Formats: sequence, C-alpha cells, structure tokens
Amino acid sequence: MSFVAERIIYYYNEWYYVISFIDITEEEIMSELIEISDMCKIYNPGENEVRALDHISLTIGEKEFVAIIGQSGSGKSTLMNMLGCLDVPTSGSYHLHGKDVAEMLDDELSDIRNKEIGFIFQGFNLIPSLTALGNVELPLIYRGVPRAKRLELAKEALKKVGLENRMTHKPSEMSGGQQQRVAIARAIAQAPPIILADEPTGNLDSHSSEEILGILKNLHEEGRTIILITHDPTIASKAERIVHIMDGKIYKDERNTGESEQQIREELKAAQENQVTAEDRTEEQHGWEE
Ligand SMILES: Nc1ncnc2c1ncn2[C@@H]1O[C@H](COP(=O)(O)OP(=O)(O)OP(=O)(O)O)[C@@H](O)[C@H]1O
Ligand SMILES: [Mg+2]
Repeated sequence: MSFVAERIIYYYNEWYYVISFIDITEEEIMSELIEISDMCKIYNPGENEVRALDHISLTIGEKEFVAIIGQSGSGKSTLMNMLGCLDVPTSGSYHLHGKDVAEMLDDELSDIRNKEIGFIFQGFNLIPSLTALGNVELPLIYRGVPRAKRLELAKEALKKVGLENRMTHKPSEMSGGQQQRVAIARAIAQAPPIILADEPTGNLDSHSSEEILGILKNLHEEGRTIILITHDPTIASKAERIVHIMDGKIYKDERNTGESEQQIREELKAAQENQVTAEDRTEEQHGWEE
C-alpha cells in the first residue's frame, strides 16, 4: 500500500473515532430529557404571595420512572404544571430535550403538550356528557386525527386499560377506578413518550390503585418516561426513583433501592414535623405575626 493510501486510512480512522466520540457525547446530552434549574414559582406576588416552588433543580432522563412525593400543598401540582409546559415559572429555567422552554413559540409548546406529553390530572377531568370513547377521542380531535384513525386509537387505548366493555358508558356510569382508567386511556391514546400523572390513584381503593400502577408500569416497560406525583408512600415505593418535595423544595432525591413503604412514610412524617407551610414561611418573611 502506498504511503498516501496509508495516510488516508489513518486519518479516516482517526476522524471516524472523533466523530463517533462526538455522537456518543451528543447522545448522552440528549438523554437528559428534562432539566429544571433553580426554578421558583410565586403565586400572587406581593403581600399575599405563596412561594409554591422554591429554587427547584431537577434532572430526569429518558425512560425513567420517577415518583415525586410530598404532603398536600408541597408544590407537586405546581411542579407538574411546569413540567407539562402548562404554566410559566417566576424564575429559573426548564430545558426539554435540551431546548429552553421559555424560548419556544406557542405552536411548539402546544405541539409538546399534544404529542410529547400525556397528562393524567388530579381528579379525572372527564367530560360528563361524553362516553368513555368520546372522552378518549377528544384530544385526538384537537390534534386533527381523522375520524377512523381516532376511533382506532381510542379503542386501542381503552382496551389497554381493560375497558373494552365500558366504551359507551358515561363517567357517571363508571366506578372511580374505571373513570381513572379512562383518564389514562385519554393520556396514552396517541402514544406520548412522557406520561405526567398527578395523584392517579387518589381516592381509589387499594385494588384499583394496584391496577392503575400496573398500567403505568406496563407503559414504562414499553419505553415511556413516567413521572408520578403522589402523597402516598405505597405508590411512591413502586417507582425507580423517589424525589421528595416539601414546602416547594426538593429535600431528597434518590434511586429506589427497594426502600420500604415504612421508610418513606417515616421520611414524610419527619418532613411534616419540620414543615413550615409555604404560607407560613411567606408570613415569616413579611413579619406578619399577629
Ligand atoms: N393558582 C394559585 N394561586 C395561589 N396559590 C396557589 C395556586 N395554586 C396553588 N397555590 C398554592 O401553592 C402551594 C402549592 O400548591 P400545589 O397545588 O402545587 O400543591 P400540591 O402539592 O399539589 O398539593 P395537593 O397534594 O393537595 O394536591 C399551596 O400552598 C397552594 O395553596
Ligand atoms: Mg396537587
């Protein structure tokens, strides 16, 4: 082989190595799906302000199954609204797929809400006058999915949550667990990669809660990122990672290495004992003692 040919092969290999390395690093960076940095959310700024999120930083990778646990009023739903691009923070940043959400245009944001994220809201948020099928179809109508495809996707999603026999029932004709399953079917009908679930088992008996958790686990195994918001240690103990939030702050974030429910319960209790509610803290800051 000539010297020139050897050099070409040498440089080709070198560049191949460099390019592969760049690819790997980009892949690694891309794997950070969610990056929240130093985020605050203050409701009613001024005298009656509530600091619902207080300098939160949180990173979530693709395909993680994360539980966010905290007492009532700790800021969970506020955080979910931020994660779902449903509200804007008072300060701090949110990068989704490496892109700054604050710089996204309205169209881009609604695309994310419609296609990237499946929302399961606290309470079911079902439309009472529509059947289960109608409720699951509704967001697909907003997305402009043609009727035949819409029906197919909605039926498939209802089947996935075990409601093939309840498609024509209205919410008032279904149990709480079944209504929650309709809400899950609605969230997953167009196979979004991220599922944001706010207390999906709130007010359900333990059997229905198990069923809902089973559905979320399956969705995770299918390769989706699951963010599960709960106040219940039994539910949180099923996730791979548990993020504890109190008073708008993350005070513990760890892999779930089979942490027992009891341990999580004790954590919560200890947190509660030290708890200063967002309102109280604001009062302290303002010196409003009566
Ligand atoms: N729109 C709002 N205006 C003013 N304060 C609000 C608003 N929404 C929430 N808050 C306050 O912000 C704090 C956090 O509320 P958030 O709904 O995030 O709590 P949560 O952890 O989801 O509670 P829960 O478990 O009861 O659902 C609470 O003190 C609440 O009263
Ligand atoms: Mg809430």
